[in-house]
Amino acid sequence: MTEKSKLKILSSIESLNGKRVLLRVDFNVPMNKKRVSDNTRIKETIPTIKFLLKNKARVIIATHMGRPDGKAVPELKLDPIAKELSKLLKKKVKKIDEIVGTKAEKAVSAMKDGEIIMLENVRFDAREEKSDKKFCQELANLADLFVNDAFAVSHRDHASVCGVARLLPAYAGLLVEAEISHLTPLLNKPARPFTMIIGGAKIDTKIGLIKNFLGVADTIIIGGALANTFLAAEGFNVGKSLYEKDKIGIAQEILMAATSKKTVIELPIDVVV
Ligand code: 3PG
Repeated sequence: MTEKSKLKILSSIESLNGKRVLLRVDFNVPMNKKRVSDNTRIKETIPTIKFLLKNKARVIIATHMGRPDGKAVPELKLDPIAKELSKLLKKKVKKIDEIVGTKAEKAVSAMKDGEIIMLENVRFDAREEKSDKKFCQELANLADLFVNDAFAVSHRDHASVCGVARLLPAYAGLLVEAEISHLTPLLNKPARPFTMIIGGAKIDTKIGLIKNFLGVADTIIIGGALANTFLAAEGFNVGKSLYEKDKIGIAQEILMAATSKKTVIELPIDVVV
């Protein structure tokens, strides 16, 4: 069975008519003076939102923004995001000042078919990142179905990503479906030569990915701050550059495994200090 055939997709839902759909998206977008400065991530979810609205679902948007550590941070409120989404959809997007609770419940029960609302930043509640059972249930109570179109945050075991998916009938949105159909052939039958380029700051969220592609990719090019940890693992002095000292052992393991699995790992050969 392929990954895709295990995936429950939007087109397999018999009827969306009047269904309350909790749609998890990743609207963690760059902001400049309370305005969205790059709306790519929002645009990418428009096909899913339009599909749900066209089929007369009641769409409840949930997203995180930044890392507010479980507290309400005024700069990370989602009002500008709801405005931007509304502009792109040419449709009113009602922003609710709560994630769960009476206001959210009232707003959801007042919704009509084909309407859309946005909940407040899910990370304002400390229970989100702990995937707290009660919080998962409160989120699930708002909806009949769950759709995940938040590809960029799908690696997080958080309440609004995984927790609620365990409590409601859960489906992949069109963006997640597209990403999976692009990525699955790369693991199974990639065209060669196959080179993967990976960057970022933290090794933790990339270890699984890199390990999965050892022996599959011919070459893995590592850049960004991630490369510094690997350079340190090779014995270079990275000075004050961002790197993860406590992850040097893991980087060494990966470098050794790459040699035995015949994947070449390329690190930067020159740097500017
Ligand atoms: C991202 O921008 O990478 C995603 O939204 C995930 O954000 P996080 O690293 O804060 O979980």
